[in-house]
Amino acid sequence: MRRDSISNTFLVAICLCVVCSIIVSTAAVMLQPIQERNRVRYRRRNILIAAGLYDPDVPLEESFARIQTRLVDLETGQFVDEHERIDPLTYDPQRAARDPALSVEVPGRLEEFPFERRERYVLVHLVEGDQGWEQIILPVYNRGLWSTMYAFLALDADLLTVRGITFYEQEETPGLGGEVENPNWQARWVGKKVYDEEGNVALRVLRGEADPDAPHQIDGLAGATITARGVSGMVKFWMGEHGFGPFLERLAEEHADELAAEPARVAWQPARSRRP
Ligand SMILES: Cc1cc2nc3c(=O)[nH]c(=O)nc-3n(C[C@H](O)[C@H](O)[C@H](O)COP(=O)(O)O)c2cc1C
Repeated sequence: MRRDSISNTFLVAICLCVVCSIIVSTAAVMLQPIQERNRVRYRRRNILIAAGLYDPDVPLEESFARIQTRLVDLETGQFVDEHERIDPLTYDPQRAARDPALSVEVPGRLEEFPFERRERYVLVHLVEGDQGWEQIILPVYNRGLWSTMYAFLALDADLLTVRGITFYEQEETPGLGGEVENPNWQARWVGKKVYDEEGNVALRVLRGEADPDAPHQIDGLAGATITARGVSGMVKFWMGEHGFGPFLERLAEEHADELAAEPARVAWQPARSRRP
């Protein structure tokens, strides 16, 4: 057979394809554990950033040692310490939101949250201090203009004051909606209050500039009104009755003594427990 015959050319091409696909598949399989480890590290780094505890000079594991991760059932508002189908190390809430057994229907058609279902169980992160936990980091998300935006929102132990926020996954336009990842914009969230005096979710992103002294206002994102609306909706949904509301309410009741011991922390009580 001639070396440059058509059948020889096809044979060489097929062999090359087979060899290359074996190399690529082997690499993909072998790199999977490394990719998974990097995903976990990336999430942990963002949790620490939200909590204001990230220091690039300190090993991640060392900084993260202060953080306790726990599973919460949003339907009951309780911690779930064991679940037959959920391993906190591998639990994927994005996949759970699509699994009928691990998700619940979002009641009604909510303007602020366009998804029909949300996951029933979430992983929350508690930062341990000398006198119990001192902040809690909650995973939140919502639709922007082009993508679903995922963030971590850190709250002080008063369950009212924002300690920090990080958006760690989004595909909005860089320079417009993508500015949700801008650390300068995220820094403006620190110290803002999620709830008003009546216990309603009041924190929102404005269209223009916010009054720096207004406790519930965040500066708008220029040319990204739809993204900003998604961020406001995210806070409204997740901090309200269909999101973390019942869990935070229960947590506040459990820690009522601790909260009352510090006058600065009694400004807010959950709406339901304040009713006569
Ligand atoms: C190429 C392109 C990318 C855009 N990206 C975003 C975006 O990421 N987020 C957003 O809210 N609006 C984005 N917009 C603008 C929206 O289409 C819409 O005009 C805008 O949200 C209105 O906000 P404004 O009143 O602040 O201009 C983009 C527009 C264009 C043409």
